[in-house]
Amino acid sequence: MKISIIYATHSGNTESMAHGIKGLLDDMGHKTVCLDALSHGALDLTNFDGIIFGCSTHGEGELNPEAERYFERLHTKDVDFNGKAVAIFGLGESVYPCFCSSVPIAEKKFMSLGARVILPSLKIDMMEFDQKAREKQLIDWLKRVGGEFDTY
Ligand SMILES: Cc1cc2nc3c(=O)[nH]c(=O)nc-3n(C[C@H](O)[C@H](O)[C@H](O)COP(=O)(O)O)c2cc1C
Repeated sequence: MKISIIYATHSGNTESMAHGIKGLLDDMGHKTVCLDALSHGALDLTNFDGIIFGCSTHGEGELNPEAERYFERLHTKDVDFNGKAVAIFGLGESVYPCFCSSVPIAEKKFMSLGARVILPSLKIDMMEFDQKAREKQLIDWLKRVGGEFDTY
């Protein structure tokens, strides 16, 4: 399966996570590309079976500024997300009252663009320091998402 991973990062954590996800998907036998949301041409996405989008929460429970800019650009360009399968992961820290609240914001943005958002999205707590637990969470989610991309 061909999967595009698009990340919007403010301080690099979502980028690192996106590359980790790429490695896991490659190990599962998928063909993947990993792209910065602000530098990719969204129109190239038509060739992919599925899109994985990742961003972090900043401010007081908002999308990070890069994700904000990405969605603004998508709205001003004529990008056809209609029917496209999109799975979303978000980074945050559970010490914040609005933990990972960028995730439902991103879900709504993609839904308003006509995408088929695969639910539930993945909320990644950067306060979780058990790397094995983190990897298991990611692999379980990616297997489910891969299955959904496959049936579509
Ligand atoms: C100023 C600031 C505000 C933040 N606000 C939230 C928040 O409201 N909710 C949350 O879950 N995480 C919040 N975070 C945590 C970030 O989402 C977390 O550090 C994440 O790993 C950043 O990823 P990035 O480097 O890809 O931007 C905040 C971090 C900073 C620095």
